[in-house]
Amino acid sequence: MLDMQSATPPPPIIHREDYRPPDWLVPDIALDFRLDPGKTLVSARLKVVRNGDHAEPLRLDGEGLKLIEVKRDGVALESGVWRLEDDRLVVPIDADEAEISTLVEIEPEKNSQLMGLYASGGILCTQCEAQGFRRITFFPDRPDVLSRYSVLMEADQASYPVLLANGDCIESGEGVEGRHWARWEDPWPKPCYLFALVAGDLAANRDSFVTMSGKTVDLAIWVREADIPKTGHAMAALKDSMAWDERVYGREYDLSQFNIVAVSDFNFGAMENKSLNIFNSRYILADAETATDMDFDAIAGVVAHEYFHNWSGNRVTCRDWFQLSLKEGFTVFRDQSFSADQGSAAVARIGDVRTLRAAQFPEDAGPLAHPVRPESYIEISNFYTATVYNKGAELIRMMHTILGEEGFRKGSDLYFERHDGEAATCEAFVQAMEDATGADLAQFRLWYAQSGTPKVTAKLAHDAGAARAVLTLEQTMPPTPGQSEKQPMAIPLKTALLGKESGTPLARERLVMLTEARQDVVFDDVAETPILSINRNFTAPVVMDAEKDPATLAFLSAHDDDPFARYEAMQQLMVETIIDAVSGRAADHAPVIEAVRKTLADADLDKAFVAEAVLLPSESFVGDQMLIVDPEAIHQAREALRRDLGSRLEADWRAAYAASSGNAFEYSPAAKALRRLRTVALGYIAASGADDAAKLAFGQFESADNMTDRQGALGVLANGGAPERVAALDIFYNRYRDEALVLDKWFTVQAFATRDDTAAAVEELAQHPDFTIENPNRLRALVGAFGANQRAFHLASGRGYAFLADYILKADAINPQTAARLLPPLGRWRRFDEGRGTMMRAELERILAAPGLSKDVYEQASKSLA
Ligand code: ARG
Ligand code: ZN
Repeated sequence: MLDMQSATPPPPIIHREDYRPPDWLVPDIALDFRLDPGKTLVSARLKVVRNGDHAEPLRLDGEGLKLIEVKRDGVALESGVWRLEDDRLVVPIDADEAEISTLVEIEPEKNSQLMGLYASGGILCTQCEAQGFRRITFFPDRPDVLSRYSVLMEADQASYPVLLANGDCIESGEGVEGRHWARWEDPWPKPCYLFALVAGDLAANRDSFVTMSGKTVDLAIWVREADIPKTGHAMAALKDSMAWDERVYGREYDLSQFNIVAVSDFNFGAMENKSLNIFNSRYILADAETATDMDFDAIAGVVAHEYFHNWSGNRVTCRDWFQLSLKEGFTVFRDQSFSADQGSAAVARIGDVRTLRAAQFPEDAGPLAHPVRPESYIEISNFYTATVYNKGAELIRMMHTILGEEGFRKGSDLYFERHDGEAATCEAFVQAMEDATGADLAQFRLWYAQSGTPKVTAKLAHDAGAARAVLTLEQTMPPTPGQSEKQPMAIPLKTALLGKESGTPLARERLVMLTEARQDVVFDDVAETPILSINRNFTAPVVMDAEKDPATLAFLSAHDDDPFARYEAMQQLMVETIIDAVSGRAADHAPVIEAVRKTLADADLDKAFVAEAVLLPSESFVGDQMLIVDPEAIHQAREALRRDLGSRLEADWRAAYAASSGNAFEYSPAAKALRRLRTVALGYIAASGADDAAKLAFGQFESADNMTDRQGALGVLANGGAPERVAALDIFYNRYRDEALVLDKWFTVQAFATRDDTAAAVEELAQHPDFTIENPNRLRALVGAFGANQRAFHLASGRGYAFLADYILKADAINPQTAARLLPPLGRWRRFDEGRGTMMRAELERILAAPGLSKDVYEQASKSLA
């Protein structure tokens, strides 16, 4: 029986296997925008062509559009001829080709979802990926419909002196009543998610780039006039990216202009719209005073990412949204490789793996786990995940490892050549890699289909008499939602053996392909007792259990010739030491202290590497290693180890601090490394409990000539209880209250603090006049950061859970996409004790019961409870 009181029916689930080619193609579209923040008129003229033999009418997606008129071949249609089916406009067409025109009205100023055409700080801009174009006009909003665009924009000249769209500006002029117009044409057919326009009062940092075939490209980064001095780094990164893609992939830019626009309200990092990238301002604006080294690096990475999409995403796009990793995984791999080429490759790799472990491993181990190529979704925006992006990049990297640099390049050349101008699939990419090299990637394809992180155990046995070592590998795949049975994966593991006495390599590094559930690998000519070094440089995204004792880990942390493996051994040693304490076993800090001391003292090591290697794993990473997370015990154990490291090595930290201080700001790998080490050392000095620590930190805070040192010192102070803490927070606030991106840091530093009162402080900060849930950066800076502070968020009282749920609901009414991205911490309830788990579930249920919930939050909350 139907219960008339029941909530709205659950939204439909879209399945990958239901993919069908489009009924109608749209080779050409002409758009005409009468821009106004209150009411914008959009008229669209579509040339439509029947695709295949069928009698289906034309169906155009639309969302929140006020439809004024529909024409077919120039003739206005009565409203009985066309109809609205849900949100779609359905128009019958007898011929195989027709011209369909619509006129709609939209309200950019009221668009708080930041999807479609919206206003940000007086600028009108668009975000169409994944399904925002339907909020601008009626269109088959799917990535396999590619069209040539001609765009006429018309707007008030005083408020919107700059008018930008994709392609080239072919004409412009003045209109009546202070209005002006511009016509842009993009010769490259593209899916509508790559459409963009911008109108605003913007200034440009202009430059140019000469491509490998000698064509000059005009480059411009558009920002508010006052921000022009902060665009130099992004421009340099853009030019480096253009040269890098030519050198490494043979890919050249294909238009005479490339524009980037920075806006302050943006759901994501940035967007690769053809020749008109639109960025969250945090990934463009930087100078020494306001941006940290990490910000500078992130800017270069995102600028490169979006630029690289011109080939991996735009020239070859995705057939459907299940193939999202085709462009995102590949492009993340490309931006990671670019960043690795800019400085220390080892440190870059450590960063990639840290991100993967912090964001993707928990996702893969929780209720929102999904394959890199998902099978179904309710809301595609929920699938712009660490799995699709970062695990997807690991898949591409594994193919690169298996095929080698040259084989991989042959494969990518073939892929681009074969699919240029097409909407392709993940399968097409793998197929090109096989066809170009003759490799067999049949089993490897499982990486796209099976979710969950493989677990690999490794046991090494040595027969000294026979001078032979046998490595026994076993793999298991955990069950994940919808996938209880799994097949063994093809796992590439770079492996070497080191001599236990000599510390030198006994067997040259080799690539072991683990393809069976259990497999033996034999190493001959191994006389000396060997120590295993496996998954070097993290060749495979797996959890590795090599059953190493503390002494072996300490040995590897000092001797492994693979820097990543060295870092990994140290991390493992630290994790195990903390877990021992959490589990009530006597924790011996000595091996960690000794390993850190040696690393600090090793003059041959890159300082950037040292700074990463001596850092303790995060509380959440330790939690991820435990069946049931005890956030308080983890915090106490980790702090105890920090204190011990601080006091036992105090002289070493002070020496490192002194040696890395006193340099004037410079943005170079060497100077960055010293700054990183400086603040890491400062943190340990503070952890030691030294009386002068707060004074030292405050001194660094005040005298800093750059944001890295200033924020580093503020972070150290914010974790403590010294009077300098309040002073520094106040000074920081007053100095930067008009710099939105820096103020975000002020919120984040407090939300991340390890203090006992962090949850209360965050609740109070949510009442601060500068806090707003309407700006995604600000919302993430406070609420998002809080959700990532394991101990504060999981306070036993449950106030953290209630706070997060409140803000998810508040944000959902404004911006569902950004609200849904705050939810995952609540979904981890299975990993906590009964008391916490019950409270977390109750908050998820409260969210689900809320009237008018978006599909976005509905999907995340319902899956988290299932
Ligand atoms: N393609 C963009 C990028 O990775 C991200 C777009 C995200 N949009 C979304 N609705 N989830 O560069
Ligand atoms: Zn991307």
